[in-house]
Amino acid sequence: FSIRANSYTDELVQTAKSIASPGRGILAIDESNATCGKRLASIGLDNTETNRQAYRQLLLTTPGLGEYISGAILFEETLYQSTTGGKKFVDCLLDENIVPGIKVDKGLVPLPGSNNESWCQGLDGLASRSAEYYKQGARFAKWRTVVSIPCGPSALAVKEAAWGLARYAAISQFGMLVGIFPSKNRLAFIVTKLSSPDKARLHQFLDNGLVPIVEPEILLDGDHPIDRTLEVAEKVWAEVFYYLAENNVVFEGILLKPSMVTPGAEHKEKASPDTIAKYTLTMLKRRVPPAVPGIMFLSGGQSEVQATLNLNAMNQTPNPWHVSFSYARALQNTVLKTWQGRPENVEAAQKSLLVRAKANSLAQLGRYSA
Ligand code: 13P
Repeated sequence: FSIRANSYTDELVQTAKSIASPGRGILAIDESNATCGKRLASIGLDNTETNRQAYRQLLLTTPGLGEYISGAILFEETLYQSTTGGKKFVDCLLDENIVPGIKVDKGLVPLPGSNNESWCQGLDGLASRSAEYYKQGARFAKWRTVVSIPCGPSALAVKEAAWGLARYAAISQFGMLVGIFPSKNRLAFIVTKLSSPDKARLHQFLDNGLVPIVEPEILLDGDHPIDRTLEVAEKVWAEVFYYLAENNVVFEGILLKPSMVTPGAEHKEKASPDTIAKYTLTMLKRRVPPAVPGIMFLSGGQSEVQATLNLNAMNQTPNPWHVSFSYARALQNTVLKTWQGRPENVEAAQKSLLVRAKANSLAQLGRYSA
């Protein structure tokens, strides 16, 4: 017996593989209530639970979404919500063969002793929360922390971001198993004393089995050139993988959500999709083992078309991993504008979601042209 051979390891690997399946990517709709409020305000709607539910219903009931979307990241409120007709959102996703996911971090707060940087909260109680999310149907998780180039980044902020991600990833995969038994030998000894059914029950009780999406977002803000982003990204991912390994995370059962390597948003020169692809893939090849099944990029404030073109450029040559998308804004901007909160616009808004989802699906296959 070893931690790596537990009953959920195969399931973790399987879940990660099915999310990283050809021509598909992730729809990120896990905005916190505060962030969702900002999106709703942009079309003149109040930030009420009714409006958030109506918007998420529009997205999650889009007919045919599963052709292009393999996973959807939800905020906790959405995981427990249903359509106005009474169908659980989780079931809407499963009917489209889309894996439900859940944002588990508790957001960013100032990091004392740093250069005005932040750290990401949410490890307290994470094992039991994750077990509850699993019961509710979630099979993957997301934890987003950020690194700011204009703020340094300080060595402290990078270390904290990397360590937090690694602890979260270990807890998502193995939950209380890791927390309760500090020593693997002790655990192995106890397990040898159990009958097979009891072993199975122990795993059911202790394991969480959520595939962790590892997301250290390197913010686009700043006037730095692309080489500086490359340097910072290499540093950040080196530390992330160092601590993931130290925490015994199974690399075959994680997904990454990196930022693309671009010049700072305020830099005088823009980079072409080919340049962004070249820099981003160079960084990933230097830092990410091929055991990782999928790289699911965030859009980070790029326009819808830019995000698609950049993804397409990255899929012009074979990669060691599935290179795809996990976009929020770059999938939702036109949807929101089309919807305007009006029931008569729902169908048109859903069609606009399918247009972006299909474009990114083609980009995942390297076959998109604008
Ligand atoms: P954007 O694609 O809007 O950057 O969002 C990414 C994200 O982390 C949401 O899950």
